[in-house]
Amino acid sequence: MKAGIIGCGSIAKLRHAPEYKENKHISEIVFYDRNPERADRLASMFNGSVVRSVDALLEDPTIKVISDCSSNEHHHIFTTKALLHGKHVLCEKPISLTVADAMEIVEAQKKSDKVLMVDHNQRFTRAHQKAREIIQEEALGKVLTFRTTFGHKGPEHWGVNKSNSTWFFKKERSGFGVAGDLGIHKLDLIHYLLDDEITKISAFQGALNKLDEKGKPIEVCDNVVASMQTKKGCLGSASFSWSYYGEEDNSTILYCEEGILKIYHHPDYQLEIIKSNGEKVHYQLETIQTNDNQTNTGVIDAFIECVNTGKKPIASGQDALGSLKVVLAMLEAAETGTVITVDPF
Ligand SMILES: NC(=O)c1ccc[n+]([C@@H]2O[C@H](COP(=O)([O-])OP(=O)(O)OC[C@H]3O[C@@H](n4cnc5c(N)ncnc54)[C@H](O)[C@@H]3O)[C@@H](O)[C@H]2O)c1
Repeated sequence: MKAGIIGCGSIAKLRHAPEYKENKHISEIVFYDRNPERADRLASMFNGSVVRSVDALLEDPTIKVISDCSSNEHHHIFTTKALLHGKHVLCEKPISLTVADAMEIVEAQKKSDKVLMVDHNQRFTRAHQKAREIIQEEALGKVLTFRTTFGHKGPEHWGVNKSNSTWFFKKERSGFGVAGDLGIHKLDLIHYLLDDEITKISAFQGALNKLDEKGKPIEVCDNVVASMQTKKGCLGSASFSWSYYGEEDNSTILYCEEGILKIYHHPDYQLEIIKSNGEKVHYQLETIQTNDNQTNTGVIDAFIECVNTGKKPIASGQDALGSLKVVLAMLEAAETGTVITVDPF
């Protein structure tokens, strides 16, 4: 089958296209971008072809799967349309900017009965998968508290438009700034690792450091810190930042009844267990994909496996809707200076 990619920027170039190219079930990638030269560039890099409209992609019966790699404000338009055209869709995160739009996507999936996976790729890394196993086995007892962080030097160094005019800095396009770019990954990860839901949240946010193309502070937050409680009663804190200069931080620490689980914290070991008697166990698994270290995330292989076998995606539309609700609650908490109860999902 052929794969179609909508939006030919950085995530398409660095993750989706190379991973489709390596997948044996995909015969060709067809690229579409409203900036045609971006589609042309990826088609020549990955020996694919181009179309000049979304409809051309959706009307092509040989294209069975679509990656929606457009900017955040378009996901609900393209992903919904693609599902209703009978395509299986891998939608980039955040699923959408509003709950209503996310629900439209989820409804379209139900109506079409096609696979919808959302690229919450933190769920797929070896260290996170192993940590989940350890938590499920209760090898260290129950998780009591956690802290998680995700930060790098900012999307103006990552996106295809390498400048401060990037859409990531515009409210109507990115929606949530760093909260929807990096924060949603870790909030979603907490749901996955703990098999739990964040139910209450308080937060502070600010545009502390980034300037737009006019030299003004950006319209969205570049830093957020939050405290939260889960349905099972865990307490946790989180920091998300576009101003971690020098080195990315992608770490999570879980404090359990009988020890500590540190993920992407130690420089040499992706997972470190420190038992209550002080004994340490180190796991050398793969390193996490960073902006400077792009390895196969396994996301496309997992998506295609769902398409071929009917297996349920690790990150479904409903999961993504739940994580979106937490981001919205976190920003509302910061805006109102109150503790917000997250809408159940
Ligand atoms: N899962 C992850 O780890 C991860 C990492 C980075 C980005 N993302 C997500 O991927 C998406 C794309 O991000 P990016 O970093 O590739 O951004 P980018 O700016 O590098 O690329 C976006 C591309 O989409 C195209 N596009 C936007 N709107 C379009 C439209 N209406 N029609 C056609 N093309 C359109 C743009 O022209 C651009 O080429 C975002 O939703 C982002 O949040 C996910």
